[in-house]
Amino acid sequence: MSEILIDTSAGVMTLTLNRVAKKNAFTEAMYAQCADAMEQAAQDPAVRVLVWQGHETVFSAGNDIADFLAHPPSSRDAPVFRLLRALATFPKPLLAAVCGPAVGIGTTMLFHCDLVYAGDNAAFAMPFVNLGLCPEAGASLLVPQMLGYHRAAEALLLGEPFMAEAALEVGLANRVVPPTEANGVAQAQARKLALKPVSSLLATKRLMKQGQAAQVMAQIETEAEEFGRMLREPAAKEAFTAFMEKRRPDFSSL
Ligand code: COA
Repeated sequence: MSEILIDTSAGVMTLTLNRVAKKNAFTEAMYAQCADAMEQAAQDPAVRVLVWQGHETVFSAGNDIADFLAHPPSSRDAPVFRLLRALATFPKPLLAAVCGPAVGIGTTMLFHCDLVYAGDNAAFAMPFVNLGLCPEAGASLLVPQMLGYHRAAEALLLGEPFMAEAALEVGLANRVVPPTEANGVAQAQARKLALKPVSSLLATKRLMKQGQAAQVMAQIETEAEEFGRMLREPAAKEAFTAFMEKRRPDFSSL
């Protein structure tokens, strides 16, 4: 069974993360499949709305750490960067249904979504510092904007998770629902959007985003440079090795 399920019906493309045994952690192949799907959906008139969803117990554990070690992104055309660009520039309404852990890109991608429906078990975390890395997907710009600086510092410097109710309070989630209902609520909202005039949807989203679209892309590029450099440094190596060895990392000499 594919690790990304792609379905299009009634104008709604749904990308379902389907690697639950590994907490829907993204491999390079999964990034490539999602980037391809989003690039195609952006152009395809049969797709009017796109929905990301996971399982009612988990949205995504972020980068697959073992796969990331085996295939570190080697250029700006690497699948992970293609997906980040596709998320940041997607012209049509983008929705997400999020239950359980949403780690790393599992949370940062949501800052590019237009509507987010969270299960009451959703736990959002951006533990890049704990991995010897820095934020990606424009999170260093978008998280302080949405959460306010001090809450962003808790999320990005301490890497502390925040729960569905906090996401609702800061506006990252539109609604909190029982986990068994999150995907259905997102689908219902997507179907409502798919019935609206697409030219109005496109223009409205473009107008809401255009004020800082260039700044977001520039931040994604700057973060990617830092992230790529840090990936090769000792702190990330220690963090990744510790994860594989199921132990706490030791940054005392770094
Ligand atoms: N990369 C690779 N494998 C991962 C993974 C990741 N990011 N997240 C989870 N897994 C694997 C675990 O190694 C485990 O594999 P195993 O069954 O072969 O031992 C399996 O998925 C289940 O994970 P587990 O940690 O036992 O589940 P949990 O419910 O206790 O915790 C998380 C879920 C998401 C909170 C936890 O797995 C986690 O913190 N993962 C790492 C998140 C992370 O740092 N991501 C990188 C962000 S850039």
